[in-house]
Amino acid sequence: MRIDKFFSEIGMFSRKECAEKLKKGMITVNGVVVKKGDFKVDENLDEVCFNGAPVLYKKYAYILVNKPTGVVSATEDGRDKTVVDLLPDNMRKLNLFPCGRLDKDTVGLVILTNDGVSAHNALSPKRHVEKKYYFEVADPYLDEDILAIEGGLQLADGYETKPCKIERKDQTSGYITLTEGKYHEIKRLFGARRNKIVFLERISFSKIQLGDLPRGEWRKLTDEEEKIFTGKI
Ligand code: URA
Repeated sequence: MRIDKFFSEIGMFSRKECAEKLKKGMITVNGVVVKKGDFKVDENLDEVCFNGAPVLYKKYAYILVNKPTGVVSATEDGRDKTVVDLLPDNMRKLNLFPCGRLDKDTVGLVILTNDGVSAHNALSPKRHVEKKYYFEVADPYLDEDILAIEGGLQLADGYETKPCKIERKDQTSGYITLTEGKYHEIKRLFGARRNKIVFLERISFSKIQLGDLPRGEWRKLTDEEEKIFTGKI
């Protein structure tokens, strides 16, 4: 493949940016400076370096964003900003999509990828992937609410929710861990107990943690996190 395609496919540089880096002699292939965008590389065999550091070719990208409120979990939207709009231009060409959805007013961890198979598997109910949220409710919740929600309850549409786990923080806040992801599930669980979610933040997806990534920012998954997401470990 062309060297400029190599860099644009991994989301590192646009073709135009790549042309500038090539011109400045910043890119080498097998130790030799390359100046032309149409130079052909074998992405599996050749050693491509930028500024002396090896650049690995990757078929898929795995990105974690910290979704702010008001942003929608979609690839495009006529009205609202989407999670993909949080990424720089060169990343937006990678056809990334969110793996699962958070409500517009929910904040926190969303994984974006262009690996359809792994995203599908990660969301499959069979995988029982744990998703942990920090929540705040309008009114104090009782231990009997915890028991009822944890055991699984019937929502207004008749759906029986799967068991989950709640860890109390104080009277009106805590952590809830689900292994499924039904529409508005946490809001409906607390709604079924006559309470109301007033703040919801997803803080982890399996062993992948949101950590201290600032709201609205993004980062690549680490190699270890990629293996977790793709089910390799
Ligand atoms: N449950 C909800 O109610 N909303 C979300 O965004 C995620 C889980």
